[in-house]
Amino acid sequence: GVYVYFEGGQDDIYIDEFVVSQVPTAEIEQDIPSLSAVFADAFKIGNAITPNNLSSKSTMDLVEKHFSGSLTAGNEMKPDAVLNQAACQAYFEETGDDTVPQVSFSAAKPFLNYCQKNNIPVRIHTLVWHSQTPDWFFKEGYDNNNDWVSPEKMTQRMENYIKAYFEELIELYPDIDFYACDVVNEAWTDEGKPRNPGEQGSSGSNNSAWVKVYGDNSFIELAFTYARQYAPEGCKLYYNDFNEYMPDKTDKIIEMATELNAKGVLDGIGMQSHLDARSGSDAFPSVSVYKKALDKFCETGLDIQITELDVTTKENPTAESHEQQAQYYKDIMDCIYAQKDSISAVVFWGVTDDQSWRANRDPLLFDADYKAKPAFYSIIEGREIPTPVETTTVAPITTAPPVTTGTAVEVTLLGDANNDGIIDIADATKILQAIGNADKYALTPEQAANADCYNPGSGITALDALAVQKLDAKLITSLPEIVIEDDWVL
Ligand code: GLA
Repeated sequence: GVYVYFEGGQDDIYIDEFVVSQVPTAEIEQDIPSLSAVFADAFKIGNAITPNNLSSKSTMDLVEKHFSGSLTAGNEMKPDAVLNQAACQAYFEETGDDTVPQVSFSAAKPFLNYCQKNNIPVRIHTLVWHSQTPDWFFKEGYDNNNDWVSPEKMTQRMENYIKAYFEELIELYPDIDFYACDVVNEAWTDEGKPRNPGEQGSSGSNNSAWVKVYGDNSFIELAFTYARQYAPEGCKLYYNDFNEYMPDKTDKIIEMATELNAKGVLDGIGMQSHLDARSGSDAFPSVSVYKKALDKFCETGLDIQITELDVTTKENPTAESHEQQAQYYKDIMDCIYAQKDSISAVVFWGVTDDQSWRANRDPLLFDADYKAKPAFYSIIEGREIPTPVETTTVAPITTAPPVTTGTAVEVTLLGDANNDGIIDIADATKILQAIGNADKYALTPEQAANADCYNPGSGITALDALAVQKLDAKLITSLPEIVIEDDWVL
C-alpha cells in the first residue's frame, strides 16, 4: 500500500518519475508482554485502526501482539463511509421510493478482510450519529437542496438503512464475530440535553440533523429497536459518548440506557474516554471524577466498554510529561481493572502517537518508533505477566560472503550505476530502467559492475535499486547491502 500525504498549498501537484520501494519493517519489541495476555483475566484489549495502519507491517505487528481482542474501524464503518448517495438516488429514480438507502462497505473492506483473516472480533462503530453523516440523508430525494423529510419518512429510512447495513455485513462477512455495535453515538450534550437541531454543514458542527427531523431525541429508541431486530445474534448494542463523566450527562445516559435495557433493546454503555493528563494534578477529568462516573455506569448492571481510550499530555510533551501521563494512565487503568466484572472490553483509539488524531500530544502507549512508552509499562505494573513466548535470536553475521562483481570490470563506486561519481536516486532509476528495457537502457560493463550492490555477484535486480534507495533514504549507511539468503552456507 502507498500513502501520499500533502498538507497545505493550493496548487496542483504532479508526481513524476517516482519509484515505489518497500521500506524495511521496523522490528517491534518482542520481549515485552502482550497487553491482551496481561489483561486476559479481565477484558478484551482492542484498538481502532485506519487504512494506512493496515499497510504498515510494524503497526499491524503491534496490533497482533497487543490489541487482537477487538478492532474498530477508525472511520470506514461510519454513516458517511457506508451511505452511497449515487446509489440512493439511482434506486429512487428507478422505483420512486426514497425510503430505502443503499449502503456499501467498499471503504471498510481492507479492514474487514484483515479481521476475517485473523479471526479478530469487530466493534461496529457507528450507526446513528450527528457527525460524519451526510445532510442529504435527511433531505427529500437524498438531495441537499431539498426540504427536510418528515419524521415518518426518516423512520422508514432509518429502519431500511439499519436493515441493509447488517444484512450486507452478514452476507459479506458471515465468519466475522461482530460482537458489539455502537448503535447511537454522542446524542446528549454535557448538560444532558438533546443537541441543537440543524445541518452538520461542510465544516462540521455540533448540530444534529436527527434532532432537526424529530424535534427531540426520540430517534434513539427507534435506532436501538431496529438494531436489535436486524443485528446478528450475539452482537451487543451500546450507547457510546464522550465527556461521559460530566455529571448531568452521566445521569442522562444512565436513565436512558436503563430504560432501553428494560425494553430489551440496549445491552451496554460505551465510555469513549478521550482523556487529558496535562501535568497530572490538573488532569481533565481528574481520576476521581472519572472513577465516580465509571462506578455509576457499572452499578447499572449493564455491560460497560471503554471504547476509545487515549490520554493526551500537555502541549509540547517532554520526558516529564510522559511520566505524568504514565501515572494518570495507571490510575485510570486501576479504576477500570477494579470494575473488571462489569467491563467486557478496553479499546484504545490508535496504536502509535504519530498516527493519532491528537498526535501533537502523544496520547497512546507506543511512540512513532513502535516502542513502548512509560504509559505502557505503568498500566502493566504490578499485574501478573504471562510467560513470554520464546523467540529465537538470529546470530549476527560476522563473515560476509565472498564478493565478486560478476564481471571482469573493476567497481569504481558501488551503487553508482550511471557512473557520474555520486550515488543518488538517479542510480536506482538507471538500474530499474536497465531491468525494464535492456535494449534501450543497457548498462555499460563499468555501470553494471557498480550497479551490482545488493549481495554483489547475485546479478542485477530490483534489489540493487532498492539498496541504492535505502542508502539515499539513510536506511542503510553503506554499500554493498548484504542480506543472508536462505541457501547460503556461512
Ligand atoms: C469521537 C468518535 C470517533 C472518532 C473520534 C476522533 O470520539 O466517536 O469515531 O471520530 O471522535 O477520532
